Amino acid sequence: MKIAVTSASGKLGSSIIRQLINEISSDNVIGIARTPEKAKHLGIEVREGDYNNRVHFDKALEGIDTVLLISGMDEPQKRIQQHRIVIDAAKANGVKKIVYTSIVGAEENNAFSPVVQSNRQTENDIKNSGLDWVIGRNGIYIEPDLEYLDTYIKDGEIRNCAGLGKCTYTSREELGYAYSKMLVQDSHGNKTYNLVGEPLSQKELVKLINQVYNTKLVFNAISAEEYAKERKRELGEFIGGVITGIYEGIRDEEYDITSDYEKASGRPHKLAVEMIKEFKLNQKT
Ligand SMILES: NC(=O)c1ccc[n+]([C@@H]2O[C@H](COP(=O)([O-])OP(=O)(O)OC[C@H]3O[C@@H](n4cnc5c(N)ncnc54)[C@H](OP(=O)(O)O)[C@@H]3O)[C@@H](O)[C@H]2O)c1
Repeated sequence: MKIAVTSASGKLGSSIIRQLINEISSDNVIGIARTPEKAKHLGIEVREGDYNNRVHFDKALEGIDTVLLISGMDEPQKRIQQHRIVIDAAKANGVKKIVYTSIVGAEENNAFSPVVQSNRQTENDIKNSGLDWVIGRNGIYIEPDLEYLDTYIKDGEIRNCAGLGKCTYTSREELGYAYSKMLVQDSHGNKTYNLVGEPLSQKELVKLINQVYNTKLVFNAISAEEYAKERKRELGEFIGGVITGIYEGIRDEEYDITSDYEKASGRPHKLAVEMIKEFKLNQKT
């Protein structure tokens, strides 16, 4: 059985591939990447695949039985069309099963909702494709907060508009493990899973970060307006708005949801403290 993973050069794609080759021979795992040279380090066959290019995917999916489609990075309407290129090429080239990395979150009411809506549209496109399918709705990654730690330490605080809301953080490592199982096992047919960990407030997250990194951070809640202004100044209009929308969603309890992680992966999701410790360990090596 040949399994292809798109966006192989990215952090999620690499994590899935690293864990997938523990499940099946690396000869049967094919990476598809917009920039193939960035995926060379994975030590597997890598084929070219830009989501804007149908010809790439007709070639890249030749002889593939199962494809994992990692959600794109472009603005929402463009993503839907890009994902359709992969789905249509999969259908035309005899692929039997498609696994899609979607997202949890509110379809309305915040600045992240258009991204969530575009993911739901792709979920529907996949369900209507006639292929076997499995959908994972990924939780919010914990890593970006940890990558930001130097800034947090400089400021002495984590500051955002999540208020008292709880977020069920996951990590790319945890997701990689779950997808490696969802790709090779037959028991997940036509299932949609929330791939999330335990619910944590920002105050609880800060406490765990302080425990692992021996820092003295505090959490300060600010308004969504104030936070949006800060994020857009630093990250630009689109990404700044999207990040603010995620924290508004946390404030509104949109991420305090039931986890299907164990059903998808066969083991419980790691605790947040374990994910933080692992991240710290990997930073050192
Ligand atoms: N759950 C969360 O908290 C969260 C946070 C951020 C993102 N996401 C979603 O998760 C996905 C994967 O995240 P990640 O951590 O792997 O991000 P990442 O490390 O930044 O990687 C992004 C990947 O997308 C690829 N890509 C971008 N445009 C493409 C195109 N037109 N055609 C084909 N590939 C394209 C990039 O290829 P190149 O190497 O060629 O640039 C790269 O492999 C993102 O695409 C996004 O939809 C989720």
